[in-house]
Order: sequence, then structure tokens, then C-alpha cells
Amino acid sequence: MAQETEPVTGLDRIAEIEREATERLAAVADEAALEGWYREYLGRKDGRLSGLLRQMGKLDPAERPRFGAAVNEAKERVQAAYEGRRTALETAALGARLAAEAVDVTLPGRPVEVGTLHPTTLMTRELSEIFALLGYQTVEGPEVEEARYNFDLLNIPPNHPARDMWDTFYVNSSHGEIVLRTHTSPMQARTMLAQDPPVRVVVPGRCYRYEAVDASHESIFFQLEGLAVDEQITMADLKGTLTEMARQLFGAETRVRFRCDFFPFVEPGVDFSASCPACGGKGCRTCKGTGWLELGGAGMVHPNVLRNVGYDPDRYSGFAFGLGIERIVMVKYGIDDIRNFYANDLRFLEQFAGTRI
Ligand code: DAH
Repeated sequence: MAQETEPVTGLDRIAEIEREATERLAAVADEAALEGWYREYLGRKDGRLSGLLRQMGKLDPAERPRFGAAVNEAKERVQAAYEGRRTALETAALGARLAAEAVDVTLPGRPVEVGTLHPTTLMTRELSEIFALLGYQTVEGPEVEEARYNFDLLNIPPNHPARDMWDTFYVNSSHGEIVLRTHTSPMQARTMLAQDPPVRVVVPGRCYRYEAVDASHESIFFQLEGLAVDEQITMADLKGTLTEMARQLFGAETRVRFRCDFFPFVEPGVDFSASCPACGGKGCRTCKGTGWLELGGAGMVHPNVLRNVGYDPDRYSGFAFGLGIERIVMVKYGIDDIRNFYANDLRFLEQFAGTRI
């Protein structure tokens, strides 16, 4: 009797293991769990379904083929369920990876940071435009300059204090005295040596001085030189030109003041100031209470300079001027320290973004 019921129990056992395997398979959520599940039910050595085959010896030999076939069929179904589950898990994992790596092509791009023109550049361009309308050509010259142009041809004698080692950067050279130009004035000589009158040029450019750096002195700074030479040029032309420049820069109400000054390459020489655009000339913090802002030096080209470049001083006359470009930006925007210009602090520089100085 017991022998007859055994196969039936054996078949029930197969069905029971199959059901349990299938149920547990449905709950498997990742690859590691799937592997554990596989070992438990389908593992070749210790798998529970294979284990049933090993118990076949206990069965009635007549029942063995039916039992064996039933185990194998169950194994095949469970194997198929396993493969289905594995594919489902892989598909889900791939889906999750794709979702994680997805690129949202509708996201707006990150804006590219665009640099801005430096305030010195902006002011150089504005000055150049103002003078272009007055008939001046903009030219540039070398920053590393022969002392001959920087000093001698400009009537600056060898014993002049500007030529002192402590005021000027000298460059070691076997080709005569070479300096980092201390002003843009050497281009006066270069321009006149290169052409006949009439001359109308402005020369923006970097200059160098051996300075004790402070709020109003940098050892590197920019100047704009101007030169007009023709027949019958007078001081009135100089005053009219610089007045027009000041009004273009600071507004039509601007007044201009000229006072006697000395520069070796002009006679007479002047310094020139504009009425303070911040207070209209009444006196304020920007102009230190004076109502005036000094912009630069100017004068009638010295006859010696004309002679030095081969111009006849009895026929030609001219005027020249030189101004600090940073100084004009400082006056116009109330900047109190020239060191801001070349400190590369973006908080300062970005204020000029999009500015039409
Ligand atoms: N070169 C002078 C300086 O650096 C500025 C200057 C003064 C230029 C008078 C001129 C001028 O052309 O006429 O201080």
C-alpha cells in the first residue's frame, strides 16, 4: 500500500516544488537574488528539482520512468520561467540605465561667458572716433623705443631728469640706448620723419615708467598723443580742438581751461583741464573741490622739434597734446584708483560690459 502511494506523493512533491519555485521567482527583484534562486531550485548539485531525481532509487522501479519524466518536465517549465524572468529583469535594468543616462535635448544650453572690452580699449576707441571726425588718423608705434625718439628728437636734453635711470626702464642693448617708451610723444618724431606736412595724427598706446605705484600712478598706463602740423596752425586751433574733444567726452556744457606749463617739446606749453562733469564746475569730491579735472599736457610744437625732423619752422607750425587714457575713464566714471585697471578683477571689469563709453 505504502509502495503504491509513494509515486503519487512523489508527483505531488514535484508539483509543490514547482509552485514554490514559480512563486519565489516572481518575487526575485535583482540579479543576485535570481542567482540564489537558481542555485536553490535548478542547481545541478544541490538544486531541489535535481535532488528529486536522486531520490528516485527509493521508488518502485515501475514508477521511476513516469516520475523521472515528470521531474524533467517540471524542470523544463521552471527553466523556461527562469529565462523569462531573467529577460524581464535585464530589460528593466537596461530601461533604468537608459532613463538615468537620458539626455534631455530640450534643456536650454548653458550660456557661454563672453568677455568684454577693457575700459581702456573702449576709451581708446572712443577717442579715436572723436578725432577721426576732426580729420585725424590713428597710428601706433613701438613700445620698446630708441632713446633718440623718446628723448633727443623731442628736445629733451641728455641731462633732463626724465632720462634718469630711476624714472625710465632702460633695455640692455648693444644698439644704442633703448627704453620702454615713457610717453607716446616719440611717435611725433617718427610720424614727421616719415611724411611731409600736413600732419594730423592721434597715437594711442601703452607707456612705461619707473613709478612708485599708488592710486594715481601705475608703471604701465596708456596715453593718447595728438599732433597737427600745417601752415598757419595757431594756439587757437589747439584750444578749439581740445575743447571739442572735452565736449564730445563729457557733454556740450563742458568748459576747458589752459594754464602755462613746461614740456621740452612745445613752446608755449600748457596743461589743460575740463570743468568737472560730476558737479558742473561747482566743486565736489571728484574734482577735490576745485571744479576742474586735469586731463593732460599740450602746446605749440617747439621749433627745435620741427627742425630735428627736417620741417621748416618758418613755414610750418603745429600743436601737440598728450593725455592719460585711464585718467579720462576715471574722470568719466568716478573711479578713484588707477590700480583697478590692470588688477584683472572681474567685478571691476564686468561693469563695462556692453558699455558704449
Ligand atoms: N608726453 C607728455 C607726458 O607724458 C605729455 C605731453 C605734454 C604730450 C605736452 C604732448 C604735449 O604732446 O604737447 O607727460
